[in-house]
Amino acid sequence: SVLEMEVEQINKGKYEHYMQKEIHEQPDSLTTTMRGRLIRGGSCKAKSVLLGGLKDHLKTIRRSRRIVFIGCGTSYNAALAARPILEELSGIPVTLEIASDLLDRQGPIYREDTTVFVSQSGETADTLQALEYALENGALCVGITNTVGSAIARTTHCGVHINAGCEIGVASTKAYTSQIVVMAMLALAIGDDTISSQTRREAIIDGLFDLPSKLKEVLKLDEEMKDLARLLIAEQSLLVFGRGYNYATALEGALKVKEVALMHSEGILAGEMKHGPLALVDETLPIVVVATRDACFSKQQSVIHQLHARKGRLIVMCTKGDAASVCVGGSCRVIEVPQVEDCLQPVINIVPLQLLAYHLTVLRGHNVDQPRNLAKSVTTQ
Ligand code: G6P
Repeated sequence: SVLEMEVEQINKGKYEHYMQKEIHEQPDSLTTTMRGRLIRGGSCKAKSVLLGGLKDHLKTIRRSRRIVFIGCGTSYNAALAARPILEELSGIPVTLEIASDLLDRQGPIYREDTTVFVSQSGETADTLQALEYALENGALCVGITNTVGSAIARTTHCGVHINAGCEIGVASTKAYTSQIVVMAMLALAIGDDTISSQTRREAIIDGLFDLPSKLKEVLKLDEEMKDLARLLIAEQSLLVFGRGYNYATALEGALKVKEVALMHSEGILAGEMKHGPLALVDETLPIVVVATRDACFSKQQSVIHQLHARKGRLIVMCTKGDAASVCVGGSCRVIEVPQVEDCLQPVINIVPLQLLAYHLTVLRGHNVDQPRNLAKSVTTQ
């Protein structure tokens, strides 16, 4: 029965904590997110994406002058992860706003804008208030939420449910990966009328079909991440370097570590390394560098080289098979992840960092599912 299914879903089952369960659930939550929305194509039909909640609004979105993504915390990071593919496939300028900051500035929002509100709970006070502000300014308002009937789902003009299933751990994990997948599908839907990007779009759709099995594969790093957590248990701080598609991975990985493991952690845009962060590098401070294969790979190799030259203590996340070649100019610990289509790589790359944050928290003896001072849904300002 539906009730039994819901109780089943709310139980921890074989897991000790909800965060752990939700991390390991991701192959299934991604499958549910994509269910009925990807069209395989056929003899004469092209592969495509169907987002029912948006189909009457796609024309308006394509005509908008700007797309503004608005969210808080992990939901903001998910939009950051999807921005490159949204820009590439839509050709429309895409900007990001942290909801509170948009409100603090009373930043300009126009009738010609499409505003997209990203929220797992659909109830975050700042995001909801930013939505009211965008409505007053006449923008088209789209919701991307995980909660049917939530305030944001009800108040937006149209939207997409991520269907990741109920998320209980305060630190968002499976909602993050499903949000990125939904925004990638949104990019595909907006770009659907462009012939020149057809091949690229089909490759991404194939990549989406493959994603749950690749996620299963990356989850096998669980024990390895537990070992890494043992090594880092007494550290004061952890830096995470990323760029391009994986700038978001750096911010979101660091957010997980600080919010649950209660360890200072900072996500750093690798391109900004020389403008400050390099001063922190020494033999003791652990640094994760995300350097999986994409157009930024050679730039990240040079970052690794320069960190080695400063005797940095490196943990490099690289594409399977790159372990031997990625660490130029010194020694480092390596995390090898399966490769997927470049724009979907952040969905895979966040998983080892979720596992690391989880194990660090348990080993340090902190509350995994309800970190001190934090709430699942921030409904007051
Ligand atoms: C709180 C939660 C985070 C979440 C953020 C935004 O800070 O602890 O996990 O990312 O709110 O929540 P939302 O429901 O709007 O995505």
